[in-house]
Amino acid sequence: MAKALVTGASSGIGLELAKILAKNGYDLLLCARSEAKLKKIAQNLKNQHGVKVDVISMDLSVSGAAKALYQAVTDKFDQIDILINNAGFGLNGSFGDLALEKWQEMMHLNMVTLTELSYYFANDMRARNCNGRIMNISSVAAFQSCPWFAVYGATKSFVLSFSEALRYELAPHGISVTAICPGATATPFHQIANSENIALNFRFDKVEDVAQTAYDAMMARKGTIITGVMNKPLPLLVRLAPRALVASIAERLAKPDVMRNIKARHN
Ligand SMILES: NC(=O)c1ccc[n+]([C@@H]2O[C@H](COP(=O)([O-])OP(=O)(O)OC[C@H]3O[C@@H](n4cnc5c(N)ncnc54)[C@H](OP(=O)(O)O)[C@@H]3O)[C@@H](O)[C@H]2O)c1
Repeated sequence: MAKALVTGASSGIGLELAKILAKNGYDLLLCARSEAKLKKIAQNLKNQHGVKVDVISMDLSVSGAAKALYQAVTDKFDQIDILINNAGFGLNGSFGDLALEKWQEMMHLNMVTLTELSYYFANDMRARNCNGRIMNISSVAAFQSCPWFAVYGATKSFVLSFSEALRYELAPHGISVTAICPGATATPFHQIANSENIALNFRFDKVEDVAQTAYDAMMARKGTIITGVMNKPLPLLVRLAPRALVASIAERLAKPDVMRNIKARHN
């Protein structure tokens, strides 16, 4: 039975991807920090779909985490056919006013762990000639600079650039790399990022739709996919407009609490 590893599977897009994979008969290895949540999800998926589901609770934002996860995975499973690098978080706010440790944690989780997991598992897939699949979750934030999301946006640009390059390097080995760029999606992400009320988030895509689009793209071995019809023109618009103009519009849209201020004025 084919096996998939999903990081950040305890909520949001990762959880929905785990549900879709289970429905399609994949055995799963789910990773996040919240052990109790993961165990409950695993039990439900096993009961509903009769697949094997193991969980590994781990903080992936610290040095050495990817290696420890890879070790734990290879101890439990002889092979992973699908790697989904989904775990990540963002923070909306002033770069200088938020703790440096938070930015370091974010860079490690969103970029370093994702890169290291890709390294370990892509090399395994190559050695086994298994025609594996890697899905990396980037964001529409990857296409331009993102004032008030400066570090987060840069981490997602890294994920997009890395994934698009790796796709070409791994293609001769039969391994596909799919980069998913969601727009604002209804998950706990925005509560954690403190970005629920910014102007940019005037509408949210359904997480089930985003996950299904991502899964279909990965199965079809597509390259870069932007989820949500409304988000699709973004890269082209951004490419045509002057970079400074794009950055100034992004700045206004992501300014902390703009929506809250507008709502307050109208009440
Ligand atoms: N929602 C959006 O609008 C949106 C848009 C574009 C891109 N994305 C990207 O989509 C991905 C999934 O986000 P989401 O929207 O589904 O948010 P979410 O519901 O907050 O899910 C994030 C997942 O990552 C896990 N995680 C966070 N920190 C971790 C850590 N230190 N170690 C291990 N796991 C950790 C969380 O589990 P625990 O807390 O249990 O560890 C959770 O399972 C992220 O990469 C995000 O950047 C989201």
